Amino acid sequence: MLILAIETSCDETACAIVRDGRKVLSSVVASQIDIHAATGGVVPEVAAREHVVKIKPVIEEAMQKADLGWDEIDAIAVTQGPGLLSSLVIGFTAASTLARALGKPLIPVHHVSGHIYANWLDRRAKDDGEFPIVILTVSGGHNELVLMRDHTEFELLGETQDDAAGEAFDKVARLLGLGYPGGPVIAKAALQGDPKAFDFPRAMLKSGNFDFSFSGLKSAVLRLLEEEHDKNGKLLEKFVANVAASFEECVADILSEKLLVAAREYQAKEIHLAGGVSANRHLREMVEQKIKKYKIEAKLRFAQNIHYCTDNAAMMGAAAYQFWMRSPGAYNSMTDLLPSPQLNLYQNLDASQNK
Ligand code: KG4
Ligand code: ZN
Repeated sequence: MLILAIETSCDETACAIVRDGRKVLSSVVASQIDIHAATGGVVPEVAAREHVVKIKPVIEEAMQKADLGWDEIDAIAVTQGPGLLSSLVIGFTAASTLARALGKPLIPVHHVSGHIYANWLDRRAKDDGEFPIVILTVSGGHNELVLMRDHTEFELLGETQDDAAGEAFDKVARLLGLGYPGGPVIAKAALQGDPKAFDFPRAMLKSGNFDFSFSGLKSAVLRLLEEEHDKNGKLLEKFVANVAASFEECVADILSEKLLVAAREYQAKEIHLAGGVSANRHLREMVEQKIKKYKIEAKLRFAQNIHYCTDNAAMMGAAAYQFWMRSPGAYNSMTDLLPSPQLNLYQNLDASQNK
């Protein structure tokens, strides 16, 4: 089954064509990073304007790269939510227009289910994974622990009570003057720093549940920087590297600890990392080390290609395929759908609940 998927929930305009939820025939992402770097974050109106300009060329490029004719596409998938409404609406309009024009089904997909299914991309057909799976899915806009007992069955174990870890990376990078997006620039600066230089607070680490909190960590970094400014008048390179390394260590410690406690409690056969922050090498290594330390017999997986960690449309095509497989008849008359900025993953998205 060939699905053309569109993703425009935040600041990437993306289109991909995916065969049977795994094989990526093309994946095009027009990034707006350079534009949003100037403001240190995404301005919704600016993002929406860029989507309007990019959406048609991105879809055309994806079709060209896949070398397909329109009659070969079986269905159109699109991110329904959550995300910025003004961004979602551009991808949604393009997708529903295509579905109508081609007379093909429109499959609406939850953004986080896309991040989760990124881990199925480029896998062999026989390798379907072993359930139950415990997934840490973390990016700029969300931060959750999810239990999957089977395909498309998501149970929320815990989530952030305030900021997402990716958002904390972005805010701390801005405080340190390192640029946007925060994840990659903090990871780079951290390579020159000492992860034990500062002992930042590990909020909710011992809370006894699977929720997270990162706003206190950001405030702790802010206080430290203000003290340093008062002392030295400026931030020295070594100090910035030490803050970056200690911050990254703290976030990786909190995320990995909760993930592995959940994996043990739910006897996970697989442990997955998903979302933009799952691109973080330090986090991946810490999870690997703790799996050994805690003697957990579960297979660790993350996206095979680092480009599938951050926002892309291939992951939406992978998720759409799984939903389609479970209720293929459900999507044929769905062209009256609307984007939904607050969509809830844990309603176990079936077609009727998406309206
Ligand atoms: O999934 P994504 O592209 O967008 C959202 O759905 O939010 O994730 C973007 C987030 C940003 O906050 C970015 O700082 C973070 O993922 N990120 C990283 C890394 N690469 C991206 N965080 C830590 N380490 C990285 N290498
Ligand atoms: Zn995302």
